[in-house]
Amino acid sequence: MTTETLLYLEGVSVTFDGFKALNNLNLDVGTNEMRAIIGPNGAGKTTMMDVITGKTRPDEGRVSFRDVTLTTMDETAIANIGIGRKFQKPTVFESHTVWDNLELAMKAPRSSFASLRWSLTGEQLERISKTLERINLTPAAKQLAGNLSHGQKQWLEIGMLLMQEPELLLVDEPVAGMTDAETEKTAMLLRDIAQTAAVVVVEHDMDFVRALDVRVTVLHEGSVLAEGSLDTVQNNQRVIDVYLGR
Ligand SMILES: Nc1ncnc2c1ncn2[C@@H]1O[C@H](COP(=O)(O)OP(=O)(O)OP(=O)(O)O)[C@@H](O)[C@H]1O
Ligand SMILES: [Mg+2]
Repeated sequence: MTTETLLYLEGVSVTFDGFKALNNLNLDVGTNEMRAIIGPNGAGKTTMMDVITGKTRPDEGRVSFRDVTLTTMDETAIANIGIGRKFQKPTVFESHTVWDNLELAMKAPRSSFASLRWSLTGEQLERISKTLERINLTPAAKQLAGNLSHGQKQWLEIGMLLMQEPELLLVDEPVAGMTDAETEKTAMLLRDIAQTAAVVVVEHDMDFVRALDVRVTVLHEGSVLAEGSLDTVQNNQRVIDVYLGR
């Protein structure tokens, strides 16, 4: 099976005060591929996401999405071409219901609670309902987001990103702080999302990464140390030395 490249990074370097957070990094993610990124603290995983989303400009290198060069675009423009990003901490509107959070995410990505007064088309109602199902929050639709568990807030934020119909979703440490049951459900959710979008997920939880059952890229000191199935990289001596064996 050949998959088209959706996200492409070549020779990307980022320096902070003389320290190379990314050092000639290469990455290639296919359309509808899910890729797991692992590696020790400080390896550059979050910085890589910052570069893809336009938060940090690389000193060198090429970053493209489809045939679009991202390195000259700002964060809003990058979000608008279909790249959604989930930060580690959930950022939902706590004093609004779960349903309203999804509705806001669909209609007014960057502002305006006034838009809640607009009436929804049948197709929009359907999209919200379907997203609630996907993120396991149908029974909580009318609850205030502030009353959700930590795991449920993470799902709601993922749902809010889905309302924007991203082609690529970047997710940084989604299961940190989750219960085992929530972690399992999150793996299922991301696998479901990967049916219709590419997903890049950073995680330290190896049980979770195993449940994703996808190709793994190991970052170390800002570059790719190893790539392959989880079994392959777990048996790589250099990976054991710098990360898994510690
Ligand atoms: N804005 C910044 N200014 C200075 N240094 C930074 C900045 N952002 C990141 N760094 C440094 O770059 C390196 C890579 O950080 P990054 O957050 O990308 O690592 P990470 O792989 O996400 O680690 P973790 O697993 O702990 O989240 C670290 O040494 C970090 O201190
Ligand atoms: Mg990080």
